[in-house]
Amino acid sequence: MANLLLDNFGSAAYPDGRLYDVISNGKGNMGGYKHNLSLRDRWAIVGYVRALQLSRKAPLSDPTVKAAFEKAKAAAAPLQ
Ligand code: HEM
Repeated sequence: MANLLLDNFGSAAYPDGRLYDVISNGKGNMGGYKHNLSLRDRWAIVGYVRALQLSRKAPLSDPTVKAAFEKAKAAAAPLQ
């Protein structure tokens, strides 16, 4: 498995098209998903991975990020 949160998988080092190609055709020990996921869904996964990568780097000093974090924490509280 690859840790997609590492910098070498960020969009600067690892372009969207390359990520899309691995999702579609696989690589090494990872199988491809082109027979199971539509073209649209595979690009949506590229977008989702990028969103997760960015959210991991979002600083809590940013008020928008802090507000979203507090909201998520409050929503999760009853589950703990
Ligand atoms: C749609 C979700 C997934 C995405 C976006 C994804 C993406 C990637 C990427 C970008 C790599 C790195 C390829 C490289 O070295 O350039 C990778 C490697 C790998 N992934 Fe996935 N992957 C996904 C799902 C999975 C699943 C479900 C499995 C397990 C069944 C898996 C198993 C692996 C393995 C074993 C590698 C290492 C491949 C190798 O170098 O031998 N991946 N994945």
